[in-house]
Amino acid sequence: MHLICRTEDIPEREARGFETPLGDIFITQRDGSFYAYQNLCPHLQVSLEYMEDQFLDRDKEYITCSTHGALFNVEDGACIWGPCQGESLTKVAIEIHSDGGIYLNT
Ligand code: FES
Repeated sequence: MHLICRTEDIPEREARGFETPLGDIFITQRDGSFYAYQNLCPHLQVSLEYMEDQFLDRDKEYITCSTHGALFNVEDGACIWGPCQGESLTKVAIEIHSDGGIYLNT
């Protein structure tokens, strides 16, 4: 099992990008839950962020793609606005262990 980071590395309404054996992913925390997705926009298959760890919109409400501004729900990765509306980010399975580690669930 691959340790990605620790829960304290990702504050509420923040996001962090990571290189993993499954490729580039990012994790964000919302209301105490952690959500992980592949760092790949379903529109043109490019990375989402324009600067390191900038995966959320200005209000930190949605995940956003910096290329054309698509917005995605944090909880399910569904695109709710933009050129890929109706498509979704690809979820990455993670596990949080009692030691506070966030692991890839492979
Ligand atoms: S490449 Fe992401 S919205 Fe177009």
